[in-house]
Order: sequence, then structure tokens, then C-alpha cells
Amino acid sequence: MTSAQDIRPRKDELAAQAQYYSTSPNASFHSPSSHGSALTRTIPLPNAKHLKPFATEDIKVLLLENVNQTGRDILSQQGYQVEFLKSSLPEDQLIEKIRDVHVIGIRSKTKLSARVLKEAKNLIVIGCFCIGTNQVDLQYAAEHGIAVFNSPFSNSRSVAELVIAEIIVLARQLGDRSNEMHNGTWNKVSNGCWEIRGKTLGIIGYGHIGAQLSVLAESMGLSVIFYDVVNLMALGSARQVETMEALLGEADFITCHVPELPETKGMIGPKQFEQMKKGSYLINASRGTVVDIPALIDAMRSGKIAGAALDVYPNEPAGNGDYFNNDLNTWGADLRSLKNLILTPHIGGSTEEAQSAIGVEVAQALTRYVNEGTTLGAVNLPEVALRSLTMDEPNHARVIYIHQNIPGVLRKVNEIIGDHNVDKQMTDSRGDVAYLMADISNVNTTHIRDLYTSLESLPSRIQTRILY
Ligand SMILES: NC(=O)c1ccc[n+]([C@@H]2O[C@H](COP(=O)([O-])OP(=O)(O)OC[C@H]3O[C@@H](n4cnc5c(N)ncnc54)[C@H](O)[C@@H]3O)[C@@H](O)[C@H]2O)c1
Repeated sequence: MTSAQDIRPRKDELAAQAQYYSTSPNASFHSPSSHGSALTRTIPLPNAKHLKPFATEDIKVLLLENVNQTGRDILSQQGYQVEFLKSSLPEDQLIEKIRDVHVIGIRSKTKLSARVLKEAKNLIVIGCFCIGTNQVDLQYAAEHGIAVFNSPFSNSRSVAELVIAEIIVLARQLGDRSNEMHNGTWNKVSNGCWEIRGKTLGIIGYGHIGAQLSVLAESMGLSVIFYDVVNLMALGSARQVETMEALLGEADFITCHVPELPETKGMIGPKQFEQMKKGSYLINASRGTVVDIPALIDAMRSGKIAGAALDVYPNEPAGNGDYFNNDLNTWGADLRSLKNLILTPHIGGSTEEAQSAIGVEVAQALTRYVNEGTTLGAVNLPEVALRSLTMDEPNHARVIYIHQNIPGVLRKVNEIIGDHNVDKQMTDSRGDVAYLMADISNVNTTHIRDLYTSLESLPSRIQTRILY
């Protein structure tokens, strides 16, 4: 059985027009982490062939900003050369380091601007070991065939647990009691304090977090209703309601779990507070723009809302410090003066477990992309995947052709690969960039080299990789 090889030349080899492919160090190399996880989202065949884009040990990975150990382990176990740094790098040092790496892993502090990416001649993929990706010039990366992955859902459970905690803390006014005790005041009260059993929780946005929360809340004796723009299967005994107004009029606790979109901006404003039951509670751990905060301040001052918890704000400071003031948001002082209001600094997803899950999810996405070309979960390229090639298909190759999304390209590509038997093929586009993946049978090294050269010579080419 031959090992998988890659026909994509490295730039130095290209320049020299020397032999431009390399073989994997050993045919039996195998990492279960990159092929068997539930996170993979494509089910690999039991005898799936492990495609390698380079000699495995030639893959250079740079991990910055103390990426979680789980992610480091997965990439090291692949046999890649992994360099790990605890901090981010100043731009000049980053440019120096990024020049010869194929994979870079960052968190939120490293800025991968077009200026930096321009120097990254060998880079094929970026892993953001966090939720946000605005630190990366996604458009530039896509236009240069560099895929970007992140981890949007690894912290859903952490957010759901925070909300459960907040429901009880609000119902029992625990924040205020604790503050009073810290100030030396003993204030034993039961007035306006409630059990949560038998109350109704209204979830706005029944996605990853909303659905987790639904299950946890029911197990604590809450009735759950939810509103979502999509018709969704309710979990347990939860019930979808048709309008947000219906939810607001019925729920004792209302919690928002929608994405930041033009339609969700200010979706909880003066009108919605009017529609809520007197004495209800509001929680927002989604995005700061979802709740109109001055309207919340009014609703709390009037007694309409008995308590609230905010984890997110329209403007949030870039780092830790004394920044939660009126310079940041004009209503800061008004908000801080309210009773039974829990304010947390966007910590919904900030747990050790979430960090560890992010490490696994992003490292697996990087490994799949490097080894198989799968773009599922990429934030800047179309999502394309094919079922794995198997060890029973020794003379197969996988062609990956990232190209400009312009008329006529597919005809030209198919003229090139059409002389061979194309077993399966998928193509998709996103904006100006398209991604084609095709598995071809009965090809030898000469065929592969010819395919590579022909695809590279097309004017639409952004990047060609052939894995086999
Ligand atoms: N506080 C934190 O630390 C933290 C951590 C993770 C996620 N978040 C935020 O939580 C929110 C939800 O995250 P998720 O992972 O559950 O997202 P998700 O995409 O899985 O679910 C969002 C749901 O909202 C629904 N939706 C969209 N527009 C809507 C509208 N106008 N009205 C009603 N429903 C609507 C969608 O159909 C979807 O079911 C996001 O804003 C995310 O950024 C915050």
C-alpha cells in the first residue's frame, strides 16, 4: 500500500523547478483525533485513507497566545512541527515568523492584517482558537486561498449554566444581599424573593445555547417556552410560541440567545418592556446591542422589571481594568446604581472546559483541512467536503482547486480533469472565491504532476493542492 503524498510544491521548490512533491514519512501514520470525532461532521469510512499534503514532519505550525494544551496535543500528534508561544507577537516579529509556516493558531490579540498575511507565502490555514474572527482580514485570506476556522459553539454549555445561575440569583436577590454583607449590613428579607420551581422561562433564540438551557431549566422545575424565527423541534416539554409578544406576556424570566443581526438590534426596547409581565426578569448573555439599555433602566426604575442580568454591552473594553464607566457607555453610572442587577464582563463562555473544547474543535478543523482539504466550518471559504478516500483506492487523488468565482472556470477545470475518471466532485462559491474538490481514480504520479501544472496555469487559479 502506498502512502499518501502531496503534489503541491513548496515555494522554494517551485522556484528551483525541482522535484515538487514529497511522501508521508510512513504509510501507517494515523491520528484518531482527526478522523473519529463527533465534531468531524463527516463520517469517515472505517478504512479511510489518510491523505497527507506534505511529508507530515514538514508541516510547520505556529501557535500563539497560549493556545490550549488540547489543541497543541492534537497538532503535535499529527507529526507536524509545532512551535508554541505563550503571548502574541509584535507585528515585525510576527511577519518574520509567519513567512514559512503552513498553519497559524491565534486567539483574539494577534492581528492578521493583509500586511501580515502578504508575507505568509506558505500559509494555507488560520485557526482562531476563540469565537471572534475580526482580528483576521478574512477577505484577504479568502482571496489568497487561506482558510480560516474558529470555534463558535464550544462554550454553549458554559453560557447555559451561567444563565441558570443567574435565574436563581435574581429570584433570590443574591447579588444585593451579598453586596450588603460585604458592606457590613445584615438584611434578612423574604419579600420579593421566589423559588424558581413552577415559574416560566421564555427563551428568545432556541439555538445551541437556548436549547441547552431549555433542558437544564426544565430539570429544575421551570416551564419553558421559546420564540425563534425558525420552526424548531422543542426539547423535553418546552413549547414554541408564535410571536415574541406571546412569550413576553407569559414568561417570568426572559433570556435572549439570538445572534447580532440588524433585526435583533434593540429587539428588547420600550415596547417589549411594556409587553412583559410586571415583576419579570430579563437576562442578556447574547450580544450587547440586543437590549436597549436606557429602556431597561427605565423599566427597572418603574418596577416593571424586578431584576436583570447583563453579560454583554454595546461597547466593551478591549482589556481588563477600570473601563466600565460613562466614557464607554453614556448610561454606565445609571446602570450601576440599580438594585438586583447582575453585571458581568462578558464571561458567559469563559470556563476552563470551554477553552479546552475550543482547543479540540479548532485543532481538528485545522488537521482536517491540512490532511483532507475539508472546509466544513470555515468562516471565509465555502463549506465543501467529500466522503473519505479509502485504503482500497490506492491510485486515487484528491484535487483541490481554489479559484476566482468567474464564468467559464468549471468548464476549463473539467477539461483538465475530464480525461480521468472523476468519482466524486463538489464545488461551491462564497463571494468572489470558489472551492472545488474532486476525487479522481486510476492516476499515477505523472498524471498528478500534469494535473497540477495544468490547473496552476489557469488564470483563475488561487491555490491548487493535490492530495493522494
Ligand atoms: N456571553 C458570552 O460569552 C457568549 C458566548 C457564546 C455565545 N454568545 C452569543 O449568544 C448568542 C446565541 O449563540 P448560539 O450559539 O446559541 O447561536 P445559534 O446560532 O446556535 O442560535 C441562535 C438562534 O437565534 C435564532 N434567531 C435568529 N434571529 C432571531 C430573531 N430575530 N428572533 C428570534 N430568534 C432568532 C436563530 O434561528 C437560532 O436558532 C449569540 O449572539 C452569540 O454571539 C455569547
